[in-house]
Formats: sequence, structure tokens, C-alpha cells
Amino acid sequence: MKKLLVLSAFALAAFAYQDCAMCHNGGMAKKLDTMTPAQIVKDMKEFKAGKGNPMMVNIAKAMSDKEIEEAAKKYGKK
Ligand code: HEC
Repeated sequence: MKKLLVLSAFALAAFAYQDCAMCHNGGMAKKLDTMTPAQIVKDMKEFKAGKGNPMMVNIAKAMSDKEIEEAAKKYGKK
């Protein structure tokens, strides 16, 4: 049971950072393409340091710096 919980938490986190748009579609959180990739990276580093919205803190902590940069490029202003 414990193992299952850990597994599903991991799956959720893995899913979350592949799909920022799931929440950032203008509904729950603002659209990410209004921000430059550099702004997104900066905010993500603050979240990773434990500052700000707890939901984002968890997501950022589960991501490597490389993944953050890739997500920022993918979802940021083109
Ligand atoms: C589970 C929902 C969810 C997912 C998935 C998610 N976010 Fe967020 N994010 C939020 C919420 C909620 C906020 C806080 C919005 C607020 O305070 O107005 C936020 C805030 C932010 C902010 C700060 C700017 C702002 O809106 O205040 C950035 C940057 C950000 N998220 C980037 C990302 C990136 C990059 C990803 C994908 C790696 C991501 N988020 C995935 C829910 C999510």
C-alpha cells in the first residue's frame, strides 16, 4: 500500500512537469506564454527553494534544472 502511494505520487509529479498547461491554461493559473523563459526559470528556482505556492514548490522540487529550462522554453513566450 505504501509502495503504491509512493508510486502514484511519483507518477503525478512526473505527469505534472510534462504538462504545465494542465493548470496554466488561464483557469487555475495564468498562461505561461505571457512570460519569457527567463522569467519562468527565475520563478521556478524560487519555488524550488521552497518559496511561494506549495503546489508549485512540489512540482519544482521534483524537477532538475535542465527540466526546468526545457519546460520554460516549451511553455514560455515564443
Ligand atoms: C497542478 C497545477 C499546476 C501545474 C501542473 C503547474 N503549475 Fe505553475 N502554478 C500553479 C499555481 C496554482 C500557481 C500560482 C498561481 C497564483 O498564485 O496566482 C502557479 C504559479 C506558477 C508560476 C508563477 C507565475 C504565476 O502564475 O504567478 C510559474 C512561473 C509557474 N507556475 C510555472 C509552471 C511550470 C513551468 C510548470 C510545468 C513544469 C507548472 N507551473 C505546472 C499550478 C500549477
